[in-house]
Amino acid sequence: MLKRISFLFFLLFLIINISAQQPSGSILAPAPPMGWMTWNYFGENINEKLVKEMADAMAQNGMLNAGYEYLMIDDGWQGGRDKKNNLIPDVEKFPSGIKALADYVHSKGLKLGIYSDAAPLTCAGYTASFGFEEQDAKTFAMWGIDYLKYDYCNAPKDVKTAIARYRAMADALQKCGRKIVFAVCEWGVREPWLWAAQQGAQLWRTTYDVRDAWSSVMEIYGQNVTLYPYAGPGHWNDPDMLIVGLRGSKGPAGLYGGIGCTDIEYQTNMSLWSMMAAPLIATNDIRSMHERTKNILLNKDVIAINQDVLGKQAERKIKDSVFDVLLKPLRGGDFALAILNHSDHAHEITIDFNTLGLQGSYEIKDLWRKDEMGIAKKWKGNVLSHETKLLRLQKIK
Ligand code: GLA
Repeated sequence: MLKRISFLFFLLFLIINISAQQPSGSILAPAPPMGWMTWNYFGENINEKLVKEMADAMAQNGMLNAGYEYLMIDDGWQGGRDKKNNLIPDVEKFPSGIKALADYVHSKGLKLGIYSDAAPLTCAGYTASFGFEEQDAKTFAMWGIDYLKYDYCNAPKDVKTAIARYRAMADALQKCGRKIVFAVCEWGVREPWLWAAQQGAQLWRTTYDVRDAWSSVMEIYGQNVTLYPYAGPGHWNDPDMLIVGLRGSKGPAGLYGGIGCTDIEYQTNMSLWSMMAAPLIATNDIRSMHERTKNILLNKDVIAINQDVLGKQAERKIKDSVFDVLLKPLRGGDFALAILNHSDHAHEITIDFNTLGLQGSYEIKDLWRKDEMGIAKKWKGNVLSHETKLLRLQKIK
């Protein structure tokens, strides 16, 4: 009898252990989600033709191949509720309905994201999900939605209510019969990194909306970079969309001083977001991308840093008046090293790996120049104003 009981305990121990070591592929958002979102360029001017064109573009322009798999419809798609209180799209913008659109998007090998809000109305004043969480989650599942961005405009300010409202939608999604990534969007105001993962979210915005401006990239980076302990497979800090390639165009990201950035600055946006294991969500017009924009968004070595299976957000190791240095541990003992010159002048910078706590020598690859730089214990180079050097340090086996 005793033998049998201890065998049962052994079995139980084994099961618990195995499930604790589940490969990260079996959880939602095991790596930071990658995709494209309507908001920061098109705002509310969206419709099914546009979304289909974006799906075509993503499938053809290398984005899907590079890992950008979510196509997300942000605010402005809603057309109220029908007589049974089912959420419906604006029939003029989406005459074929969201299910047909999801089928189209899925047929391209992409996933479809949608947007709602934890109040009666969204930020742009459209019908939202408060009080209809279960019904809306079922509708989203029936349509074939794969990702829900859930905003917090028009909702009470206190953290307790926010947690309860996000919990209500997370529970509804759990029960809806489809795996839907849940993205909290309360702009970091109530420190969601402390509670959103426990409520069932896979990511949470850490800041207010990004603008197409260098000052915005630096401000958001500054807020998000300190939150590295909270990121990991299935739970990510979200410092908002990439502004790469917007080039000062009109649209929400062009408001309030969104004057555009240089390509060097867009490259820094991509580098820092990759180092911070942030979702890589483009928002520029991907139907007609400048070659420089493509080179930034589609750099596979940079994306590999972002998507690394360890899922670590880089830690800032050096912060001074000229430059910042970030270090991100990668699978197999490699590291990604970013050197950001945030000053107004180019600088000659030397980084001794020892001072970052790294032992020995590493094989260095410059991921933007695509240079193999040989084996060394330090890196020295000229970093332009607002440039970020991104290096992969490969462990010598
Ligand atoms: C908020 C969000 C944005 C966008 C808009 C839509 O401002 O932070 O990302 O979703 O609402 O109205």
